[in-house]
This record gives sequence, C-alpha cells and structure tokens, in this order.
Amino acid sequence: MKVNPLNPVGIFDSGIGGLTVARAVRELLPHENLIYFGDTAHLPYGDKSAAAIQSYTVKICDLLIKNSCKVILIACNSASSAAYQLAKEYAGSRAKVINVIDPVIQYLGAHYAHRSIGLIGTKRTVKSNVYQKKLDKLNLDIKLKSLATPLLAPMIEEGYFNNTISEQIIINYLSDASLQEIESLVLGCTHYPLIKNQIEKYYQGSVKVIDTSYIVAEALKDFLANENLLNSEGGNIHKFYVSDYTHSFAESTKIFFQEEVNLEHYPLWE
Ligand code: DGL
Repeated sequence: MKVNPLNPVGIFDSGIGGLTVARAVRELLPHENLIYFGDTAHLPYGDKSAAAIQSYTVKICDLLIKNSCKVILIACNSASSAAYQLAKEYAGSRAKVINVIDPVIQYLGAHYAHRSIGLIGTKRTVKSNVYQKKLDKLNLDIKLKSLATPLLAPMIEEGYFNNTISEQIIINYLSDASLQEIESLVLGCTHYPLIKNQIEKYYQGSVKVIDTSYIVAEALKDFLANENLLNSEGGNIHKFYVSDYTHSFAESTKIFFQEEVNLEHYPLWE
C-alpha cells in the first residue's frame, strides 16, 4: 500500500508523559504533523498487567490507523515492553510501529560494549526484563542493572521536581545496592527527562545519564527518511487527545511539551 508522506505521525502513551518524546520529535522533525493520544483513563500503565496494556494498545492503534497515521510511535516504555509485538502484528501493512526501547538498545550496542549500565523505569518495564533480553541478543557483553522506581512518575506529574522532596526520593532510589558500579543510567520512562538535571547532580559526572527521547526521535527520523516518508511541507497541524480529560492533565501538558497544548477529550472507551 502506498503511504502518503503528508500523513501524520501517531504517538501514544499511557498519559501525558509521552509528550517528552513528542517534544523531541517536534524539535527534530518540525514539518511532521502529529496526532498524540494519552490514555489517561487507564494511567498508570506501569502498574498494569501486560494483558491489560495489550488490549488498550490495540484499540489506540486502531484509532491512529483510522486517522491515517503513516507511523505509530509507542512513546511509553511500559507499553513498548508489554505490547510492541502485538501492535506491530495488529497494524500489519497499515502502519509501521516503532517503540521507545529498540532505538535505545541500538544506541547502547554502539557505545557500551563490555560495560555496565543502569536502567530505571516502571514496575512493568523492569519486570518485563525486555532491555536485558534485547541486549543479550546483541551479544556484546553489556551488563544491565535495573531498578523499578514507581514513585518517580506520579511525583513528577504532581509537579515535584527540582525541589528537596524529589531530591530525597531520587537519592533513595539511586543509592540502592542494585544500581551501583554503572557507567551510564538509562532513563527508561517518559517522565524522567524532567528530573535528568537532578539525577546528574546526584552522580556529579561519574555516570552518564541517558535521556532516551532524542535517541527515539532520531530513530523515527531515520525510519521516515529511509522509507521516503518525510514530510517537508507540514508541521502546523498537531492534535492532542486524552481518553479522560481533567484540568490538571491540561495544566501539566506544558511541563512535558514545553509549550501550550490544546488538549482534547477523545472518549475512546465510552
Ligand atoms: N509512560 C509510562 C512509561 O514510560 C510511565 C507512566 C505510567 O506508568 O503509565 O513507562
């Protein structure tokens, strides 16, 4: 099927945290039109079962395909770890599906052979062991130490970052025995770019902190370029939908996207 390069890029997440990825995409690909869907009705995905996340993902992919998205970017680590394979099969030839984990694995493969790295993310992401499994396939002797840090996403969403409370929680997690002797730390959750500075402050330069949103945006750009799907004309039509609308979600969008967003309610589950 011939895909029109002018068609939008579909991006989805469990909520509004995925706007950090959308922001990186918009910066790197300013002529792409975006359709963003945040499944705020089912947030947080990090505490959900893989089966639940899979069922939400299929329905969201369906919506994005119906909106003619030329590519679907799963901008959520929890959904990427639980439902990428299924999303890919479901979309089939109708849309290419990209996740936020594979581009990071490629990056780690290129820079961290025979080294030790850390990963923080939701319970779903860490429990899935997906990073380790994908790294093992590279066969590059990359040692991964991971820790679920479930307090961080709600903390950030409530506006607790760059303050002493967030600092204490961050110190508590990063000093955990399971995260020691690492050379870099992967921020394996959509929300964490907002606390990158605080994490860097904790490590004082001894550990490289990897904000994955730009790595993912680069991978999307490469994919679109390779497939001759880059849009060189658009960039003014962005749509931002959530499955459950509250004023507080609308308020928080600016933190994640760093500019005003017109958030609309899309009752996908009603
Ligand atoms: N978007 C999720 C992720 O990147 C974090 C928030 C949630 O648990 O839904 O894993």
